[in-house]
Amino acid sequence: MLRLGNLGYRTSLLAINVGKKNAGKTSVTAIRCLSTTLSEADKKKLSGAEKLLEKLAEEERMERKIPHWSPTAPSDVRPSTAPVQPSKILFTPGPLTTSYYAKLAALHDYGSRDHKFIKIVKDVCEGLLDVAAVNKKDFTTVPIQGSGTFAIEGVLSSVIPKKKGVLIIANGAYGTRQRQICKVHNIAHTFMEFPEDAAPNLDEIDKALQTNAKDHSHVAIVHSETTSGIINDIEAVGKIAHKHGKSYIVDAMSSFGAVPVDFEAAHIDYLVSSANKCIEGVPGFSFVIARKTAFDASKGS
Ligand SMILES: Cc1ncc(COP(=O)(O)O)c(C=O)c1O
Repeated sequence: MLRLGNLGYRTSLLAINVGKKNAGKTSVTAIRCLSTTLSEADKKKLSGAEKLLEKLAEEERMERKIPHWSPTAPSDVRPSTAPVQPSKILFTPGPLTTSYYAKLAALHDYGSRDHKFIKIVKDVCEGLLDVAAVNKKDFTTVPIQGSGTFAIEGVLSSVIPKKKGVLIIANGAYGTRQRQICKVHNIAHTFMEFPEDAAPNLDEIDKALQTNAKDHSHVAIVHSETTSGIINDIEAVGKIAHKHGKSYIVDAMSSFGAVPVDFEAAHIDYLVSSANKCIEGVPGFSFVIARKTAFDASKGS
């Protein structure tokens, strides 16, 4: 649990940095809410992290004395800004709220070329592979400066060869969104729609991969269809995709970090998720965990 909390905190630091440039969103995850489940050793580590946060906050308090026209001055000391409303709850696209610690950590600036920041990026990428429980020799993390949809769009529009296509298996809004992305990007696709309250039919998928979707190179599915709460059997679908020699894309936006995923058993080549769901980071930052062989083979697509 602490590992997830720490990762969320660190992904948040990363997201804060990229988010400042991207959308001006600043917030971090709640690590404190996990404390009731922590061991003594982990509590000690958490206490160390808190001291660091307090130190950063103290630095910020010192910074508040700098002239209000400074670009690093907090918004509430800058002129002509709305008064700060500390009690206001911010619902960000997640939806989630941000804790005191999230806000506290957001007070610190890291430069994008700063060694500390570069180390945070590296730690986050490696930490995500740890959460995925994959072999680091075989997989890599691609951090993406954008929302979950941005990352899905990034994968669909980057890895499918121009003369190939994708079989989209959908039983909800996020599966349907993949079709929309393919339409916009002119990616050949076969759309298999199943009822929102039912698991995709494996026999039908198998049949489609022998008939109308035969020439496609990829299969895509949503793991946890957030709109209905259904968890799709990505392992069973992955086995079928593998049997037909297809590369496999999984949208695990609202499941990664909470619902175990066996990358090898499911033959996953690309798993897409974002910081602001189960890993408890902030919006504005997503990532792809990619199998290196598939990713390398996609060069030039
Ligand atoms: C399964 C799934 N896919 C994609 C998305 C899109 O992510 P975002 O809202 O960050 O663009 C979401 C968002 O909730 C989701 O739950």
